[in-house]
Amino acid sequence: PLSPVEAVAAARPGRVRPRRLRGNPGLRRSVSEVRLHPADLVLPLFVKEGLAEPAPIASMPGVVQHTRDSLRRAVAEAAAAGISGVNLFGVPLVRDADGSGATDPDGVLNQAIADVRAEVGDALVVQADLCLDEFTDHGHCGVLTADGSVDNDATLVRYAEMALAQAAAGAHMVAPSGMMDGQVGVIRDVLDAAGRTDVAVLAYAAKYASVLYGPFRDAVESTLDGDRRTYQMDPANRREALREVALDIEEGADVVMVKPAGAYLDVLADVAATSTVPVAAYQVSGEMAMVEAAAAQGWLDRRRAITESVLGIRRAGADQVLTYWAVELAHWLREEW
Ligand code: PBG
Repeated sequence: PLSPVEAVAAARPGRVRPRRLRGNPGLRRSVSEVRLHPADLVLPLFVKEGLAEPAPIASMPGVVQHTRDSLRRAVAEAAAAGISGVNLFGVPLVRDADGSGATDPDGVLNQAIADVRAEVGDALVVQADLCLDEFTDHGHCGVLTADGSVDNDATLVRYAEMALAQAAAGAHMVAPSGMMDGQVGVIRDVLDAAGRTDVAVLAYAAKYASVLYGPFRDAVESTLDGDRRTYQMDPANRREALREVALDIEEGADVVMVKPAGAYLDVLADVAATSTVPVAAYQVSGEMAMVEAAAAQGWLDRRRAITESVLGIRRAGADQVLTYWAVELAHWLREEW
């Protein structure tokens, strides 16, 4: 005789059985809604002026500040791995109030752009961070007014100059990350006026004032004292991201970005549902550091954590993911084919 519980269960045989499609790897593979491909991935890279040997970054295990030579080797390796692009950040030796190193054709970032183009040609999309924070002595993303606040419109002039310098150095795509109002429009106009209609703009459209940039600030030896809350977005705001994205598209953005990625998947899904241009997401330094730290303790399976974190970002709607694991992940994806 059946117990009362068994009787209830037997009276309700499962007719709808989603588990049917999970029974073996081949079945699961045949119905997976999102796949990762090396071409979805973009690798951020750091290059430091005057460095003799690549220098590890303690809070970003596996990531280094590159020398000019090691940067060339890294981009050749990235191209061989089949990822789609690299996003370059420069660390200058000298900084000043206006961030003059950012527009110097011999400045560390502009030189790196030229080196990378010489190495890879068009085999990778060469993206350049367009922001002043690595080049200013105060560490803010723009120039300051007399009272120490960030001067939006004076900063736009510097960004326009920077866009021209990066285009001249060979960037395929400039990536304004400073969250100044009007930055995309000014950059687009100045590039067009200079005949550089070919250079694309990847807009950091919805960039939040996040704690997760901490390790990056070590990587670029940031001098910032304080925070960026007067220009980067408030982490509480979801709707506002759509406004920022719409403005950037109207100003001429070719691609819009949400940043950080993992803690902002709702924002990413909203943007992906409404954007008329491709959507990128940046899995930032702190997202990486959290996984690396947990994996180093043996608390998470590193490879599965990395793969799942990037898959989640793709599933939320990113066409393209900037991740420090891009090359390693691309190798794993090829192994699995
Ligand atoms: C600004 C910039 C930052 C990052 C990318 N571009 C730092 C900031 O806004 O403070 C962070 C990237 C990361 O954390 O991986 N140039």
